[in-house]
Amino acid sequence: MAVEKTRIDQLIGDHALRLSERLQAHRAQLFPPNAKKELRKFTSGEVAGLLGVKDAYLRKLHLDGKGPSPEIRTGGRRYYSPNDIQALREYLEVGAKTPGTYLPGRRDGDHLQVITVINFKGGSGKTTTAAHLAQKMALDGYRVLGIDLDPQASLSALHGFQPEFDLLDGGTLYDAIRYEDPLPLRDVIQKTYFTNLDLIPGNLDLMEFEHDTPRALAQRDGNLFFTRVGDALMDVEKEYDVVVMDCPPQLGFLTMSALSAATSVLVTVHPQMLDVMSMCQFLLMTSNLLGVVAEAGGDMSYDWMRYVITRYEPGDGPQNQMVSFMRSMFGENVLNHPVLKSTAISDAGLTKQTLYEVEKSQFTRTTYERAMESLNAVNSEIEQLVQSAWGRENGA
Ligand SMILES: Nc1ncnc2c1ncn2[C@@H]1O[C@H](COP(=O)(O)OP(=O)(O)O)[C@@H](O)[C@H]1O
Ligand SMILES: [Mg+2]
Repeated sequence: MAVEKTRIDQLIGDHALRLSERLQAHRAQLFPPNAKKELRKFTSGEVAGLLGVKDAYLRKLHLDGKGPSPEIRTGGRRYYSPNDIQALREYLEVGAKTPGTYLPGRRDGDHLQVITVINFKGGSGKTTTAAHLAQKMALDGYRVLGIDLDPQASLSALHGFQPEFDLLDGGTLYDAIRYEDPLPLRDVIQKTYFTNLDLIPGNLDLMEFEHDTPRALAQRDGNLFFTRVGDALMDVEKEYDVVVMDCPPQLGFLTMSALSAATSVLVTVHPQMLDVMSMCQFLLMTSNLLGVVAEAGGDMSYDWMRYVITRYEPGDGPQNQMVSFMRSMFGENVLNHPVLKSTAISDAGLTKQTLYEVEKSQFTRTTYERAMESLNAVNSEIEQLVQSAWGRENGA
């Protein structure tokens, strides 16, 4: 007697449906209907830190009625919204001795920085790195565009977009790079609750590009696949200082096109043997594929490329060996600071937030501060690389 088999398509379909219902309920709890994600206000101490001035100076500005008016809470504590921070930057920049002290973005002749975050290992920290970099640069006064190239859309979810509910009629990068009737890029850009940060969300539509491209190649479409992302970016080139692209954990046509558009590359790597071995495969394959693209006329010139060590545990012997190994092999291509493994970062992720969004009071002080310090150190190294690409050292 034949044993009846379960149909895998139906089983998976059933699970998807059940999961989707539960996720929707979970989301309704986290974000009540119509409640848009909103960014907290920042303490005057945090703002002073971001601007590189003394809190006493900010207080004086406030008392003199100069610049934006902060919200005053109990004990006379001043809180600034992200818009207030940007307004302070604009106010202070006018009187700055060195131009760019408070508004560090592009000046005449500087090219748009396009940073791609890659590695085909899932869980290597791509999305975490991309999100914290994009948000920190926005807080630091750069005009930032984040692009979610991962059909799994974690970067979008972190910014309050639920791909399976919010983008039913398209609205991803795919719409702007597809071969038939592409939309102007600006049509898929969304404002976020973060001042200075816009986002192009992702969802499963992005996979269409992998299916369309072989067909376009077969038809010898004049539009080569590797120029699609870069060409689409031209539409808004003037409006941003930095683009941060969060790549999917695979080396498809989309990632290749993103790499062709990139001016700089961040490879995230968790310092463990299996991860580093997998990265070795990734580097080999990337190099081969990009070589082919270069032969076909793709632009492969970069400003910089760096490995960033993620989820690092300083007390872990094997991890330290792996880090030393990478440093001895790749030298200055490894960022000096690693991103520490921290429950503050993973816990913030559980509520779809970054460390820049959560309230300090949710964590023990040292946990929060150690994580924040490590993220800021990494992001500051990257900002210096961006400044160097514009021919400036230390933002001067
Ligand atoms: N520094 C860190 N400390 C603790 N957890 C982290 C850290 N970086 C990433 N994670 C967690 O690891 C998981 C994978 O990270 P993620 O950035 O999504 O990787 P990827 O995008 O490469 O798949 C997430 O659950 C994230 O919260
Ligand atoms: Mg990811």
